[in-house]
Amino acid sequence: MTSKRVLSGIQPTSNSFHLGNYLGALKQWVELQEGHDAFYCIVDLHALTGEIEPKLLRERTLASAAQLIAIGISPEKSTLFVQSHVPQHNQLGWVMECIAGFGEASRMVQFKDKSSKAGADSARVGLFTYPMLQAADILLYQAHFVPVGEDQRQHIELTRDLATRFNTKFGETFRVPEGRILKAGAKIYDLQDPTSKMSKSSESNTGVLEIMDAPEVNIKKIKSAATDAGREVIFDEKEKPGISNLLTIHSSLSGRSITEIENEFAGKGYGDFKAEVAEVVVEYLRPIRDHALELLKDEAHLLTLLHRGGEKAQKTAASTLDMTYKNLGLVQ
Ligand code: TYM
Repeated sequence: MTSKRVLSGIQPTSNSFHLGNYLGALKQWVELQEGHDAFYCIVDLHALTGEIEPKLLRERTLASAAQLIAIGISPEKSTLFVQSHVPQHNQLGWVMECIAGFGEASRMVQFKDKSSKAGADSARVGLFTYPMLQAADILLYQAHFVPVGEDQRQHIELTRDLATRFNTKFGETFRVPEGRILKAGAKIYDLQDPTSKMSKSSESNTGVLEIMDAPEVNIKKIKSAATDAGREVIFDEKEKPGISNLLTIHSSLSGRSITEIENEFAGKGYGDFKAEVAEVVVEYLRPIRDHALELLKDEAHLLTLLHRGGEKAQKTAASTLDMTYKNLGLVQ
């Protein structure tokens, strides 16, 4: 039996991924390389829907590749590539735009959030059509599973709807994919505002733990994380969102259960707990950051790996696109 397909993507919109990206999605990417045929994509075309800064985009795309390899994505085991290297993404994206309804696209929460932040007049058309390009990313590879964080649930649902609609009308063409959203870690919150998700686009980054930040910076951020009322270290998302978030982070990185950590800190205060969380985070990230910095010294090597991944991705993508065009009646 051939192994099941996995596809996921991440935007190169920051110099560093944050711990939310890692715990919600990237940690799963690494695990799913084993026993699966995994395709992982740096979605640079999606990044064009925000502010476009050419020099930064280039740097961030390379930094993304370095970080992905540093966390354990192996270019030998998985197909690691850059979206713009595989033109079939745009080609199938257009088909998806012609299948999707204006109404359903208008209901996408990420679009509503981002366009309201940008203001109706400055939000771009690409931001609106973004989820159809994402559907194309997934469907091109006939993926069984899509490991993502909670905030992508609606986009995966849309992808499933589009695939089913297409198959019903034009004949079996796409596998209908399933999202892989973890129970713990699917939504990591901002340390300063533990009711909002940790995000690359948040206004201040004092609540965002970045993989590429120096250890001292992350220690400071954790020690100054917003403190809840009371002084007991207990998981209670409603009454203690800040402490619960730190417990999730600790547990996901240390592999220890939340109950075990609560017991360890029974009778101790938030200060001791935060100091330990800081140590767990910093020691976990240290080798990843060092490895990524090392990889970034050899840009040519990173580009070779990405081009190789792109060529491999293109073979699968081309075969799905051919079948799609044929089923649509486009003359081949
Ligand atoms: P992006 O680049 O915003 O985020 C990458 C991944 O990180 C997850 N994530 C989080 N998980 C837990 N807690 C958080 N605070 C947190 N913040 C981000 C996201 O859910 C995501 O899995 N639209 C996608 C990129 C994309 C894509 C795809 C994903 C384009 N094409 C195809 C899957 C398949 C996005 O903006 O992710």
